[in-house]
Amino acid sequence: MEDVVLWLRNVTKEYGTGRARVLAVDDVSLEVRQGEIVLVMGPSGSGKTTLLSMMGCILRPTDGNIWLRGTEVSALPEGALAHVRRRHIGFVFQSFNLLSSLSVWENVALALQIGGTRGEAGARQAKELLEAVGLGDRLDSLPADLSGGEKQRVSIARALANSPSLLIGDEPTANLDSENGRRVADMLTTLARDQGRSVVIATHDARIMDVADRVLYLVDGRLAKKPRVHQG
Ligand SMILES: Nc1ncnc2c1ncn2[C@@H]1O[C@H](COP(=O)(O)OP(=O)(O)O)[C@@H](O)[C@H]1O
Ligand SMILES: [Mg+2]
Repeated sequence: MEDVVLWLRNVTKEYGTGRARVLAVDDVSLEVRQGEIVLVMGPSGSGKTTLLSMMGCILRPTDGNIWLRGTEVSALPEGALAHVRRRHIGFVFQSFNLLSSLSVWENVALALQIGGTRGEAGARQAKELLEAVGLGDRLDSLPADLSGGEKQRVSIARALANSPSLLIGDEPTANLDSENGRRVADMLTTLARDQGRSVVIATHDARIMDVADRVLYLVDGRLAKKPRVHQG
């Protein structure tokens, strides 16, 4: 099990209490190996974002355990958890989450700085990361001047800033047209295949299914064996 990057055991997440209680993730166990691309599919409200937030150490489980590279992150205090998050995990969100007043280059350089890479080294790495996603000629642009596909490529460059072993994408293609969606999916595939990063993508976009090594289906917070057709 040397190559297991992420391991979830009987993970549950509840929001609220009493009558407002929602069981968003219900007893999920799974593992993600190095270089593997895992897709998490399921209808809206099935618990994809909640599951990914726990995988990414943004949210703690109500119950169960999570190990990242052999460390039980579900047991870490907040400060140590934040450190793990910055050092080992990269996020790509549906809504891009770029800082609008910073240039493309500054957005990536800031992420590097937060991870401890500053000055010359940070400047050079930010440029290299943006060149790698085909945006070497847009370094000084503001996010508002980019297309959706370009913005998502900036956020991929930013997610890679601290060379994470785990990359998490929450519906990364939801706001993109097919061509850009395909391009982003290809880029994530390359990261797994060529750089050995583990990639977990939540999506209900069946178009990106063919890049996955494994597809998990969530139904009402539980892992299902097969896709289930929603009965209206
Ligand atoms: N912060 C929250 N507080 C209360 N309920 C939440 C919160 N976030 C999500 N939920 C609920 O948890 C369930 C799973 O949501 P979510 O993880 O966002 O699913 P998905 O990403 O698949 O749409 C839904 O019923 C949703 O309404
Ligand atoms: Mg979601």
